Amino acid sequence: MYDNWEELENSIVNCKKCKLCNNRKNIVFGTGKKDADLMFIGEGPGADEDIQGIPFVGKAGKLMNMAFDGIGIDREQVYIANIVKCRPPGNRNPEDDEAVACLDYLRNQVMLVKPKIIVLLGSVALKNILGKEYGITQSRGKWIEKKGILYMPTWHPAALLRDDNKKIEFWQDLKQVKQKMQL
Ligand code: URA
Repeated sequence: MYDNWEELENSIVNCKKCKLCNNRKNIVFGTGKKDADLMFIGEGPGADEDIQGIPFVGKAGKLMNMAFDGIGIDREQVYIANIVKCRPPGNRNPEDDEAVACLDYLRNQVMLVKPKIIVLLGSVALKNILGKEYGITQSRGKWIEKKGILYMPTWHPAALLRDDNKKIEFWQDLKQVKQKMQL
């Protein structure tokens, strides 16, 4: 574990810890406020993120930005990262060995950001951070406290593109987060 961002970022530049390094254009490290109270964790970069090296800049990210705008969450004031930092081919889910290889980077990011609240975007984030026993359908919208951090699992923004009900629930979950941030 590194106790500063520079060393952590340098340590990842030539990462070859898993096979996702073979096809990546860019490592998508993370973006936002480095000491944010609120952090979002997604699954892994898609095509747009791979090209730009920034998380959530594609279709799903635009939808997330719209929810942020509507609810009053400032994207510049939060930190956003993913379970894996390189794009899984064809946008498949990250495999267990890839997630395991990458998770120490994310743990180090969480250690440096020290967020009060972490929003887990979708099943891959939920299971890799809190444990395989959690399911997104049962867990979404409910606060889970672990080691002094409050977690809010919710739908992955890409799931909203296919289902309007999930859009409403995503919105409700982020509203709970916004309310908690104001306390
Ligand atoms: N989906 C994710 O899980 N992360 C991104 O950065 C983009 C899309």
